[in-house]
Amino acid sequence: MRARRPLCLWVLLLPLAGALGRGDPAGPGEAAEGPRGAAEGPGSGRAWPPFQDLREPLRTAGALFLRYWALFRCRVWPETCSLDEEAPAGPLAWSLPLLGRQYLDILTTWFCRFQECSDHGDCRVSNNFTGLRSDLSVRLHGQHLARELVLTTVRGYLELPQPNKALALSFHGWSGTGKNFVARLLAENLYRDGLKSDCVKVFITLFHFPHPKYVDLYKEQLADQVRATQEQCRQALFIFDEAEKLHPGLLEALGPHLERQAPQDHRAAPSRTIFLFLSNLGGNAINEVVLGLLQAGWSREEIAKEHLEARLQAEIVASTDSGFGHSRLVKEKLIDSFVPFLPLESRHVRLCARDAFLSQGLPYTQEALDEIAKMMVYVPKEEQLFSSQGCKSVSQRINYFLP
Ligand SMILES: *[C@@H]1O[C@H](CO)[C@@H](O)[C@H](O)[C@H]1NC(C)=O
Repeated sequence: MRARRPLCLWVLLLPLAGALGRGDPAGPGEAAEGPRGAAEGPGSGRAWPPFQDLREPLRTAGALFLRYWALFRCRVWPETCSLDEEAPAGPLAWSLPLLGRQYLDILTTWFCRFQECSDHGDCRVSNNFTGLRSDLSVRLHGQHLARELVLTTVRGYLELPQPNKALALSFHGWSGTGKNFVARLLAENLYRDGLKSDCVKVFITLFHFPHPKYVDLYKEQLADQVRATQEQCRQALFIFDEAEKLHPGLLEALGPHLERQAPQDHRAAPSRTIFLFLSNLGGNAINEVVLGLLQAGWSREEIAKEHLEARLQAEIVASTDSGFGHSRLVKEKLIDSFVPFLPLESRHVRLCARDAFLSQGLPYTQEALDEIAKMMVYVPKEEQLFSSQGCKSVSQRINYFLP
């Protein structure tokens, strides 16, 4: 499959290199090195005169083309870019004319959008389920339900041949339990550029939609952004943080994007969209159920989705200070799965602290991990079981223990 690709690229890039080669007399040294005119190597005497005039520009163009090609290849297929090629990539890029570099950016974006760069048809999409599984098992602590639910629903959805609906997941739980972290892990494993990808959009309610009086404007902007991203990317990811604070008007505007769509033309490339809604709605219900089960002698890992489902949904719908539970997203069952994030215990806070040390390459002691775990506030008052802030701000607390 891959052998077919370079051919079309030669065709794409050759005019570029040719044009730049001509317009850049002071350019690459390769052109100046070549012997000139009739003094050239054997066979030059037989050269056809018009062709002789073309030879030098062609040689320049060829050399320049090869450098563009190396740069382009590293961008589009980083895995084919070997280390020794990658090392000079910086200086190589900067020695090329500015116009060429801009052209290359446009070309890369264009190529990534329309051409088959990977098995997913878009080199911005990586869909690394092995990486996702490993991250959710190793880097996320205390969330066996979220780990399984997220992995199976997302993978199942992305492997559907022709989905006729966006996938909508709603993450629920107290702050610091890992909702944002899981959203980030998803972005990082599904997209080459993670949260920075063109195909991933993050909306934080109070940051992006702060003033209720502008809700009509926000509705328009949001619909435009969703549409534009879907046009640009055949696999798009939208993350709504603080979803419990979303204005009812905005929730309404999202409705049509979550509805079942008319079946697509089967020859058309399938388009997939994932919506994640992150909120603390239902957090108290989750905590109460978990506390009850733990006190009744269950182990944390025995707790199943079924134990939580009814209570969680009831609390979401009953919530009066948020429009989310009353929106059509919930009422018309446009949310595919409500994902519970369980309250974290001190052993999980220790693991978060350990990860924070390791991620900065710093040494740690068991005593330091214990101390950090002890700094958190635990609830309920008597049992002192759950960290009220989860793992939030644990990474800042490691500063107290640095030499
Ligand atoms: C997928 O992720 C794993 C773990 O992060 C990594 O080792 C592997 O190279 C990734 N695969 C691809 C194709 O990027």
